[in-house]
Amino acid sequence: MMIHPEEIFEREMPQHSVLASLIDAQDAEQQQLFNYAAQVRAEHVGPEVYFRGLIEYSNRCTKNCYYCGVRGGNARVHRYACSDQEVIEAARFAMDNHYASLVLQSGERMDLAFTNQIARLLDKIHRATGGKMHITLSMGEQTRETYRRWRECGAHRYLLRIEASNRELFEKIHPVNCTHSFDRRMEALLQLRDTGYQVGSGVMIGLPFQTTDDLANDLLFFREMDLDMVGMGPYIEHERTPLWQYRHLLPSSDVRLSRTMNMVALLRIIMKDINIAATTAMQTLHPQGRTMALKVGANVMMPNITPLRYREDYLLYANKPGVKENPEDSRDNLMRIVEEAGMKMALGVWGDSRHYAERSEKK
Ligand code: 5AD
Ligand code: SF4
Repeated sequence: MMIHPEEIFEREMPQHSVLASLIDAQDAEQQQLFNYAAQVRAEHVGPEVYFRGLIEYSNRCTKNCYYCGVRGGNARVHRYACSDQEVIEAARFAMDNHYASLVLQSGERMDLAFTNQIARLLDKIHRATGGKMHITLSMGEQTRETYRRWRECGAHRYLLRIEASNRELFEKIHPVNCTHSFDRRMEALLQLRDTGYQVGSGVMIGLPFQTTDDLANDLLFFREMDLDMVGMGPYIEHERTPLWQYRHLLPSSDVRLSRTMNMVALLRIIMKDINIAATTAMQTLHPQGRTMALKVGANVMMPNITPLRYREDYLLYANKPGVKENPEDSRDNLMRIVEEAGMKMALGVWGDSRHYAERSEKK
């Protein structure tokens, strides 16, 4: 049966069964889905692609997510944290290249030394860049108080992936204990929103045990949470993690890539004005992965500006691209990708999602 996206998505609330059936769309049906998503993108967000300089600040992590290469339990990882000086230099590089926005990402730590250090660092970045940089944090679950403090120190956006919105699946890919709790993750997402952040979340696609029903529910979850930003990427197995033993259950790379693109297209169609990232993991499965994502609806790219000497230590998954790519090359590569996709770089603008702008106006 051929599905006509225009007709389906005119309804206010897309049906779960329709979304689920399109997650594995192929051939002509997939092309139709992509065309419609491209049309929605052109109408609602235009050809602009926003850049965020990504700093992988530290790989020290108190968690043990079953999928992640830098999980606390992996003793073979050399642990690091960037110095303040290195972060400031990276922030200056981002500013000189008109990225206008930074993402500071790290493993999760809740101790006071860490939360104070981030507060100080936010302040330093603010001073070094004359307040010109919009800052996004991606530092996991923290207390409401910490979120509030970091917000006051100048962080504007926060990324916290739900990883899997189905509680049972979440509990299969994380240990079940007080540091890894689905309820706590949900609560943190709500607290971030209350604290005034622009909130982003996302999932991995192609996890063992994950079904197309789960993915359709993930899309509906993003809508229900009224997110401003979404970053999704294919799950990529890592040898030194517990999920490695289930690699025989994984969909092929082609299926994971195709599902990822279909998810991006569907998300653009059901959340027309949010920011959607073309993530690095997409490129691991296909050299054109991010170009494809831009064409079907993604509008954010995150050039890696982490000092090169730390890149090998931030391998969340195997074959992560860009480990040896310096910030200049990373910038040039992403510019080429934007051009190949027929899009336009939006430099020197913060690039808040239109969704956030409208949500703020309504208040
Ligand atoms: N494959 C793909 N993505 C991964 N992440 C962590 N481990 C993997 C993996 N093996 C993602 C998670 C996390 C983000 C920082 O990286 O979604 O939220
Ligand atoms: Fe730590 Fe994040 Fe990896 Fe989980 S995904 S182990 S919180 S770095």
